[in-house]
Amino acid sequence: MNKVRKAIIPAAGLGTRFLPITKAVPKPMLPVLDKPTIQYITEELTEVGIEEIIIVVSPNSGVIENHFGIAENLEKRLLEDGKQKLYDIALNTRKFNVKFAVQTVANGLAGAILCAEPFIKDEPFALLLGDELLCAEKGQTPCIKKLVDIFEKTGKSVIATMEVFGDQVSMYGNIGYDKEENGIMQVNQIVEKPSVNDALSNNAIIGRYVIAGGVMEKLKKLTPRNNEIYFTDVLDELAMKGELLASGFEGNRYDVGDKAGYIKANVEMALKSGEIGQEIKEYILDLANRI
Ligand code: G1P
Repeated sequence: MNKVRKAIIPAAGLGTRFLPITKAVPKPMLPVLDKPTIQYITEELTEVGIEEIIIVVSPNSGVIENHFGIAENLEKRLLEDGKQKLYDIALNTRKFNVKFAVQTVANGLAGAILCAEPFIKDEPFALLLGDELLCAEKGQTPCIKKLVDIFEKTGKSVIATMEVFGDQVSMYGNIGYDKEENGIMQVNQIVEKPSVNDALSNNAIIGRYVIAGGVMEKLKKLTPRNNEIYFTDVLDELAMKGELLASGFEGNRYDVGDKAGYIKANVEMALKSGEIGQEIKEYILDLANRI
C-alpha cells in the first residue's frame, strides 16, 4: 500500500549552538516571529493526508507537548473576553494528531527514527527534520506534498534535494543519479558529507523524505560505525537497488538550526506579516543605508 499516513519529525537535538536559551527552552520551541519552529513543520503537513505526526523529542521537552495540547485556562479566558481571533490561534495548535517519542541517547538521525518505530511499525512515513523550514509561496506545491505524491505514484522512497556549489557540498548528504525525467532523479548512490573532490553531483539532500515501508528492520540490521548507525547507509542501500528517487522543490528553505539561518527566517517571516511587515520593511531599508 502506497498511502503515507504517518510522519516523523526528529527534534531531539540539544541545541547547544543556541545556548544559553536552550538551557531551559527546547530548541523546537524557539520562535520564528510568533510561532515555534516545530509548529511551522507540522503545518507543512496540512493537506498532505497525514493522520499522525510523531515528534521525537529529548527528555524534559514537556513544553512541546503543552504547545500541542489543551491550554484550559487560556482558552476559557480568551472565550470569556470575546477574543475569538486569539482563541482560534491558540486552538489551531491542537488540530494535529501529535504523538511523542523520547530519544534518551544522542545517537543520530537513525536512532531518532528508530524511537518512532512503535508508532510506525512497517508502514511508509514522511520524515521532516526539525532544523529546517520549507516554505512554499502561494501557488507552489509544498515540498513534502510533492514527495508524498511521487511516492504514492511510484511506491519508491524519495528525498528532496537542492543544488549546492563549492565547499557547500561537504555540509550535506550528496546523491549520484543515472537519469532525470520530469525533474525526478533515479538515485544510484549516496555519500554523507563528501569532500569537494568526492562529491557525486551538486545535489544535496535536504531534510524532507518519504520512506517506503519496512525501513525500521533495515535500520536494525545496520552495522554501527563509531558506535552510531547512519540513516544514510539505508538510503545508499535503497539507491543501489534502484529504489530511491530524488526531486527538487519549490519555495524557500531556512536552516533554523543555524544562528544566521534562524535570523534570516525571522526577518523574512516578519516581512511577510500583515501586522508588522510594512514597519519592518521601512526599518530594513533605513538600516541598509546606515550599515
Ligand atoms: C542530515 C543528513 C544529511 C542532510 C542534512 C540536511 O545531516 O544526515 O544527509 O543533508 O541532514 O540538513 P545533519 O544536518 O543532521 O548533520
